[in-house]
Amino acid sequence: MILVFGSINVDVIVPVPRLPEPGETVLGGDYQLLPGGKGANQAVAACRAGADVVIAGAVGSDSFARVALDPLVRAGIDTRLVRTVAAPTGCAAIMVSESGENMIAVASGANTAVCSDQVPDAIFGPETILVTQMEVPPAETAAMIRRVRAAGGSVLLNLAPALAIDPSLLGEIDLVVANAGEAATLGADPGQIASRLRRALIVTCGAAGATAYLANGGIFSVPALPIVPIDTTGAGDTFVGVLAAALDAGAALETGLRRASAAAGLACLARGAQSSMPDAAMIEQAVRQLPER
Ligand code: RIB
Repeated sequence: MILVFGSINVDVIVPVPRLPEPGETVLGGDYQLLPGGKGANQAVAACRAGADVVIAGAVGSDSFARVALDPLVRAGIDTRLVRTVAAPTGCAAIMVSESGENMIAVASGANTAVCSDQVPDAIFGPETILVTQMEVPPAETAAMIRRVRAAGGSVLLNLAPALAIDPSLLGEIDLVVANAGEAATLGADPGQIASRLRRALIVTCGAAGATAYLANGGIFSVPALPIVPIDTTGAGDTFVGVLAAALDAGAALETGLRRASAAAGLACLARGAQSSMPDAAMIEQAVRQLPER
């Protein structure tokens, strides 16, 4: 079982011809209101890939809460650990350029009220994979990581957005997934960072695929799907969710990373984070189209 501890947002997406410079206004196309949040996105990606998923998070008692939560329920995700709190549902303002690049600003709202205590001990155990990110309070994420590890479960941390973490926490984490910029905040040498983790540091590199730096000193890379991106929003979340689902199903790390990489490529082919996430059959087919390294 996968336990996602993380953010739940509504994304306000504005397509723009190009991303604005600071202080500049650009005119865009029609906006869309879509479900998002790194936690929710990763939960949907794992669920579509075939995993049983429970999510712990928080929303407000506003109309955005249903926009954010209904798709999770429809996807088959267990949302009983999502609290309703006295703050607005998290909201992300996202601009997507014609080349598929994005800029994101998050109004965290209810996500700042997420706490480890809302997850009872009975929910997790040795078979649990905790999937978490940095959009809910880091102290609560750290507490959740330590609790799952004490119960014998494993931990996948997506270091997004890049915030400082307690160095002593690294030894409690099986896998860190980060893009190159996020990984650099942990230190200059990925191999050295990996040696402090339980299993590996995975650095995602967009069109160049991803590299796994193993705690035992090993290193290998997986390629990306050759695609022309329409919207990269949620591609990293798809990578994380699909990797967690593969590991939950007993796959080896390299197999899981190939599935994650293929799925992340597919997720760039339509606008929105969750709407473009592939199911297990689509991932299977795309893995066969990955180039040799
Ligand atoms: O990773 C993409 C996500 O980041 C968006 O859905 C947005 O809500 C922000 O959390």
